[in-house]
Amino acid sequence: MIQFQHISKQYGRDTRALNDVSFDVARGELVFLAGPSGAGKSTILKLIAAIERPTAGSLHVFGQDVGKIKRGAIPFLRRNLGIVFQQPCLLLDRSILANVMLPLTVTGASGAQADKRARAALDKVGLLDRAQAKPLSLSGGEQQRVAIARAIVNRPQIILADEPTANLDRASANLVLDALKIFHAAGVTCLISSHDEQILDRANRLIVLGHGSIMASYSNAATKAGGAAPNASAEPDAAPDDAPSAPAPEAP
Ligand SMILES: Nc1ncnc2c1ncn2[C@@H]1O[C@H](COP(=O)(O)OP(=O)(O)OP(=O)(O)O)[C@@H](O)[C@H]1O
Ligand SMILES: [Mg+2]
Repeated sequence: MIQFQHISKQYGRDTRALNDVSFDVARGELVFLAGPSGAGKSTILKLIAAIERPTAGSLHVFGQDVGKIKRGAIPFLRRNLGIVFQQPCLLLDRSILANVMLPLTVTGASGAQADKRARAALDKVGLLDRAQAKPLSLSGGEQQRVAIARAIVNRPQIILADEPTANLDRASANLVLDALKIFHAAGVTCLISSHDEQILDRANRLIVLGHGSIMASYSNAATKAGGAAPNASAEPDAAPDDAPSAPAPEAP
């Protein structure tokens, strides 16, 4: 589903953020990206979303050569990506329901349909009862779960989460991770960058970056959704009834 082949990324003249990086992510995998500050984690996620372009190598997402993608095709690529940043980036003057409805309304869903799907997404992250609240009345972890609901509401096939648990306490970080894992269990491919050692300790597939190169890579076949988890407590018990079991790309 995602293929990095000998990808290098240079910013300006001097900064080589990635240096000959190759890896594949299969449909339904949950992959963690680790490594110190400046290692290249965010750059990998930005390349997948065509926020940045590779300097060398080939990068395919959904079989499409994203390194050479035309500008006009980028919105269609992103419609299949749910992106979660370290800061939730919510519109503060709107309710959390309105925030989660936004990706649907901009892609032309009717108000009633957007409302229904946004409420279902908020329910998945455990915040339906706060639908009418404004973002600043929520904790940082709750805001991050709203951001996850907003990222998933269009039923993307891939979630890219860049340090979604940074700045959160342990309990909030676990709730955010649980929210992501619910979507992984429903079949969504997830790439999550993190510094959090407790989270990384439980990862089944881990890519460790250092100075723009892959320093280590650890993988366990049970990461795929539906696979038997070696550490049952780290996986959600089951996909919720109305989870997006077959996330489908929107036709361009
Ligand atoms: N837009 C940019 N322009 C110039 N240099 C950049 C840019 N974005 C990233 N870099 C540089 O590329 C390298 C990799 O950055 P990247 O943001 O991918 O690291 P990271 O692993 O996500 O770090 P952190 O854990 O601090 O978020 C760093 O040296 C960074 O300074
Ligand atoms: Mg980063």
